[in-house]
Amino acid sequence: MDEYRFRSVLSRFASGVTVVTAVDVKGVDHGITVSAFCSLSLEPPLVLVCIDHQTVMHGVLGGSSAFAINVLAVDQEDLARKFSDPDDNRFDGTSFARGDNGAPALTGAAATLECSMIERYEGGDHTIFVGRVETAESSDAPPLLYYRGGYARLER
Ligand SMILES: Cc1cc2nc3c(=O)[nH]c(=O)nc-3n(C[C@H](O)[C@H](O)[C@H](O)COP(=O)(O)O)c2cc1C
Repeated sequence: MDEYRFRSVLSRFASGVTVVTAVDVKGVDHGITVSAFCSLSLEPPLVLVCIDHQTVMHGVLGGSSAFAINVLAVDQEDLARKFSDPDDNRFDGTSFARGDNGAPALTGAAATLECSMIERYEGGDHTIFVGRVETAESSDAPPLLYYRGGYARLER
């Protein structure tokens, strides 16, 4: 499979955009823009995220027992960019509250799910991190979308 074609074909799958947050063993906050988020099970309530081995967050989640998934609202494109930019100090100027499990819950997100880490599976150059949802909050804010390499919004 040609990599360019693979990426191009996958980009036709429109998704929401999340920022996955967690705290490392030194107490430092981390966050990463993630579109590979999926619900997994209703009973028990499980979700998963797929994280590239080469990211900083991969190491953080490898040693973490908790994380949060922040589903970005349509007016949070700046956060999607900030949390995927390697040069940015991501939490500077970012408004957030500390969730029950310690992970940052971004202010204004369309939804936030606090998870405890229950499983890790290898999948090629990514790891699938499975979380049990401990708390879930949502607002009526419309979601930010990602499609064919660009940000988009619902038209309805
Ligand atoms: C819209 C969008 C979606 C992304 N989805 C993922 C993803 O699902 N998994 C992943 O590992 N990286 C994803 N990335 C790339 C990471 O956000 C990016 O590599 C980030 O800089 C990694 O941060 P870290 O190395 O500080 O953890 C995505 C980037 C963008 C812009």
